[in-house]
Amino acid sequence: MTAPASTAPARTAPRAGPGPGPSPVVPRMLTGDRPTGRLHLGHYAGSLANRIRLHRQYESFFIIADLHMLTTKNSPQDIAAVGRNATDMVLDSLAAGLDPGHCVFYLQSGVPEIAEISLLLSSLVTVPRLQRVPSLKEMAGHAGQGEMPLALLGYPVLQAADILAVMATAVPVGRDNAAHVEVTRELARRFNRRYGEVFPVPALVPADVPSLPGIDGRAKMSKSLGNAIYLSDPPAEVAAKVRRMYTDPARTTAGVPGTVEGNPVFVYHDVFNDRPGEVAELKARYRAGTVGDAEVKQQLGAALERFLGPVRARRARLAADEGLVAGLIVAGTERTRREAARTLAEMRAAMGLGAALAGFRRAARTPAR
Ligand code: TRP
Repeated sequence: MTAPASTAPARTAPRAGPGPGPSPVVPRMLTGDRPTGRLHLGHYAGSLANRIRLHRQYESFFIIADLHMLTTKNSPQDIAAVGRNATDMVLDSLAAGLDPGHCVFYLQSGVPEIAEISLLLSSLVTVPRLQRVPSLKEMAGHAGQGEMPLALLGYPVLQAADILAVMATAVPVGRDNAAHVEVTRELARRFNRRYGEVFPVPALVPADVPSLPGIDGRAKMSKSLGNAIYLSDPPAEVAAKVRRMYTDPARTTAGVPGTVEGNPVFVYHDVFNDRPGEVAELKARYRAGTVGDAEVKQQLGAALERFLGPVRARRARLAADEGLVAGLIVAGTERTRREAARTLAEMRAAMGLGAALAGFRRAARTPAR
């Protein structure tokens, strides 16, 4: 699923070079989320850890996709919560390890050029093609919408506009978003073929980790299911959630041999416990029926605290730095707006869209006889 090298050149670091001559080509990455709230361990395992690992190798853009949010959640209350939610997401991301010096965070609705880019791209894709994107029907269902809103059908096109607006070459996303990146690649190729080489064809960087189960044992940790441990949960809350975690239901007493595979307590141990020897020993004793669930959970709680403690402390320090996150988002949005305006101008030029109006302007200046 990785991309072949693109024919269009990646955008060079704009106006960033030390002087004359070509700037070095810095590969650019874009990913991000809709602003729905604080991040939890599922976000960390599924995408944040991958972003933290990758982001220094790229010029890294992180979108706060509030226009995408509108496709399923558009009440005035939903919209009023964008500021708080965006702040929480950026704080959580920085606390977990993203380096603010290597990140451009931006608010999608603050870059109106993206909407025009999306409109121009929408002529290059058919309705049936979009109807085949599996995630959209699912999202419509979740939002309680029996019929597909036009904006939701256009979700992948808007995402393509995000990606192409900054000429990203790498897009790390989970399985649910892979089809959207595929639509982006098709749109980039189609635009280039029809109007001339403008876009690099971005590569999907698959974050192929299985989703983290919830504390209730359901397949996915999610805010809406109420089964999440948040990166910002205080220690007592983490401990309480671990204590009530779902575990092997067949195990009525500590003496009964238990199942480790698929047991969420051990899934979390595998992902978050930094002491593999301890995990191996607990597994062996669990299978043999020589350790109680309480002890396994107690060790998990301690491991999570070793991970979350420093994250919580960094978050508190960042949050105390008033205006820090706001400043990052304002600067990032302005930066992205310059990129998107440049891309839009290149698209319109390649398409010849400005020609008619330019002609009218010339003709209008011609003095009438
Ligand atoms: N669709 C992503 C989500 O599931 C958010 C998003 C919007 C995105 N634009 C993007 C991700 C561009 C990667 C690249 O919330």
